[in-house]
Amino acid sequence: MKRITAFVGSARKQHTYHAVQQFLTNLQLLGDIEYEIVRLSDWRVETCKGCRRCFDDGEECCPYAGDDRNVLIEKMMTSDGVVFASPTYSFQVSAIMKKFLDRLGFVFHRPQFFGKVFTSIVVQGIYGGPKVVEYLDFVGFGLGFRVVKGCCLMTLDPITEEAREKLDSVLAAHSRRFHERLSRSPYPVPTFLELMIFRGARTSMRLMESDTEPDYRYYRDKGWFESDFYYPTRMNLLKRAAGNLFDLTASRRAKQGRVW
Ligand SMILES: Cc1cc2nc3c(=O)[nH]c(=O)nc-3n(C[C@H](O)[C@H](O)[C@H](O)COP(=O)(O)O)c2cc1C
Repeated sequence: MKRITAFVGSARKQHTYHAVQQFLTNLQLLGDIEYEIVRLSDWRVETCKGCRRCFDDGEECCPYAGDDRNVLIEKMMTSDGVVFASPTYSFQVSAIMKKFLDRLGFVFHRPQFFGKVFTSIVVQGIYGGPKVVEYLDFVGFGLGFRVVKGCCLMTLDPITEEAREKLDSVLAAHSRRFHERLSRSPYPVPTFLELMIFRGARTSMRLMESDTEPDYRYYRDKGWFESDFYYPTRMNLLKRAAGNLFDLTASRRAKQGRVW
């Protein structure tokens, strides 16, 4: 049994919600799936005020740590798959979704959702949705998920029979791709790009060398300063050599005061 949690960033129970519901129903027809749809508008997610306490002192120091952020994170932690779904508003995600993402900002420093599959579902009236899909997929990658490229659905009212068929077929294909990824190994061998990002990030973290830095502590406690990647993986000789090269390049650049 795989558990999927979908986070919906629309205050209406309309196109975004229905697309998610259809996606999840398709998934259930493909395998043993249980799911939960979390309408973010039903939860208390305060607007980040930019104090940086989560980055500098730890996420538990967030002045809003008592809202529902941790409950929502726990829902992701206990899922095998996660969906972020949003309508396109002014060429971006909705404010409800963005508030949620900002409160997850510290996770980009201290990624934690490895081994879980992620995708996005975006609906749009006319224009801008594909860029929102790209954005959400990048967010998923930054949080540590394995990303299945999301989909964008055109939901201009009234929806014609032809448009409805198109929506159904896009969602059916998307569910199949997601289901296929769910059935693969949760911890695949990293790509060269993923390896480079990991080695570069940990070099920056190592340079902090301070127990008062939550990012440094997180990397140290995870054993990431010594490991090949975020999670145990068997890399061939070529990847090992590339990893060493990325370490070397990242250290050199750091010494020159450059980030990457
Ligand atoms: C404030 C607002 C801004 C919007 N901006 C865009 C936009 O930039 N591009 C677009 O294609 N559609 C835009 N739309 C249309 C919505 O994306 C579309 O109606 C979508 O179906 C809404 O999702 P929902 O049915 O789940 O509420 C906007 C709608 C609203 C209410």
